[in-house]
Amino acid sequence: MRLPGLGGWHEDPLWSYVYPWLVEHEHLGGPAWRAGTGSELSLLHEAAAELGTLSAGSRVLDVPTGSGVALRGLRPGQGVDLVAADISATMLERAMTTARRLGVADQVTPTVADVADLPFADGTFDLVVSFTGLHCFPDPHRAIEEMVRVLTPGGAITGSSLFTDTGPRYAPLRWAGARAGILGPMCTSAEARRWLLDAGCDHVDLTLDGGLGYFRARKEQ
Ligand SMILES: C[S@@+](CC[C@H](N)C(=O)[O-])C[C@H]1O[C@@H](n2cnc3c(N)ncnc32)[C@H](O)[C@@H]1O
Repeated sequence: MRLPGLGGWHEDPLWSYVYPWLVEHEHLGGPAWRAGTGSELSLLHEAAAELGTLSAGSRVLDVPTGSGVALRGLRPGQGVDLVAADISATMLERAMTTARRLGVADQVTPTVADVADLPFADGTFDLVVSFTGLHCFPDPHRAIEEMVRVLTPGGAITGSSLFTDTGPRYAPLRWAGARAGILGPMCTSAEARRWLLDAGCDHVDLTLDGGLGYFRARKEQ
């Protein structure tokens, strides 16, 4: 059964407007985020803030960039070279609107790309960020393989996702998202950890918080 009126990502769904608004308006978004995901919105903000610590010349892939939530971590004039990749050209337009609002558009290159077949050579990026993306992809295992492939040896991948082993309280959220066409098959946190190791990472941190998990892994040298 498909829930009506929401639409998948290719239909520019209502959720793609609600989600970035919640993330940017912490006073209202924080409680809503906590009620919906059981997680603290500040964790997403802290994870995105890592972008602001990168040195000039760092090469970053943000996939899926969506409306550019991760870009809030970049600083104007920082000199980072960030590729914002998404399968939806509409979402990329929104990401660039966000980049211009934040004064970081000169550091961002929008690219239409399927995470399952990234158009980049092995070892292209120092950092891959993937916030609230893994649970949207049709094949999260393949996505992890591709995101690690394009990382330089010693580079890091960081992100967040809904995981299916986070308890029955979050089952309705996952069910509704899947029926609306905005969530994919998803995976357990143990599967994500194993796939990151199998793809060539030698260290994986993965912390569950409510229905979400935050991961950070380093590709072996
Ligand atoms: C919940 S949004 C998250 C985006 C962003 N990281 C954020 O936090 O705002 C999910 C995004 O995944 C994108 N997407 C879905 N399947 C994809 C795929 N196979 N490859 C690349 N992007 C994909 C959608 O177009 C959408 O913009």
